[in-house]
Amino acid sequence: MDKYEYFLRELNKNFDLDLLGYKRPQMERRINSLMRTLQIKTYEEFIKKMREDQKIFNRFIDHLTINVSEFFRNKAQWDVLKEKIIPMLLLNNKHLKIWSAGCSTGEEPYTLAMILREHFPEGNHSILATDFDTRVLNKATRGIYSQKEASGIPEPYLKKYFIFKNNIYRVDSSLTKLITFKKHNLLKDTFESNFDLILCRNVVIYFTDETKNQLYRKFFNSLISKGVLFTGSTEQIIQAREIGFKSVAIFFYQKP
Ligand SMILES: C[S@@+](CC[C@H](N)C(=O)[O-])C[C@H]1O[C@@H](n2cnc3c(N)ncnc32)[C@H](O)[C@@H]1O
Repeated sequence: MDKYEYFLRELNKNFDLDLLGYKRPQMERRINSLMRTLQIKTYEEFIKKMREDQKIFNRFIDHLTINVSEFFRNKAQWDVLKEKIIPMLLLNNKHLKIWSAGCSTGEEPYTLAMILREHFPEGNHSILATDFDTRVLNKATRGIYSQKEASGIPEPYLKKYFIFKNNIYRVDSSLTKLITFKKHNLLKDTFESNFDLILCRNVVIYFTDETKNQLYRKFFNSLISKGVLFTGSTEQIIQAREIGFKSVAIFFYQKP
């Protein structure tokens, strides 16, 4: 076992954090650069420091995963979702059960909630929004965004679904009541099933190919028949056909 493997084993043992499914070169680079910043010389010392100080552990998690998100990220794909995919799903089921997997600070599930409220208000839709990072989930649950963070939201939606006060935007309860935020690790925890739509966008970048494939297979199993998986804009699924998916638009994969 080399030093890096030792570090992963200790992370798993001490913090229940399993990084085996992540690409080693990227992870190693990130971990080492943080250690340099914190002036920590060995993995052993790093583990010790994280055990003693929750703040250092939080910093490690922050550094490890890139949490950047945006409202209406890659707008053209949200248009495809609105114009083609959701109408298609509604032929199958009036009330959509949706999962935003790796939802970060909430921009993705709130974008979805705005589209549902605005264009498909009849159904009793629900969104499960999950992430394994408690800190981003806390921000998502609060639903408070700066003017800069909210800049991607079209003006009519801002007026209708946000309350502006003291220079911040707060999400209105008409959106929050559609969403349940929950801590969930995609590489460890069990998956719910019977989803009409699963969004997993910009999450798998650091996963090994093997981990990605396992994950996509699990998403496949969690979808109902005719359900759709919506991926990020650089994340075409190479083994889509092998898994059983049919491509219905770029970055949208349907379970037949
Ligand atoms: C770049 S953000 C993407 C946010 C949003 N989906 C989007 O496209 O804007 C990636 C998120 O994936 C989460 N993530 C990474 N690995 C995860 C895992 N194993 N289980 C759950 N969430 C994970 C990170 O915590 C981070 O919040």
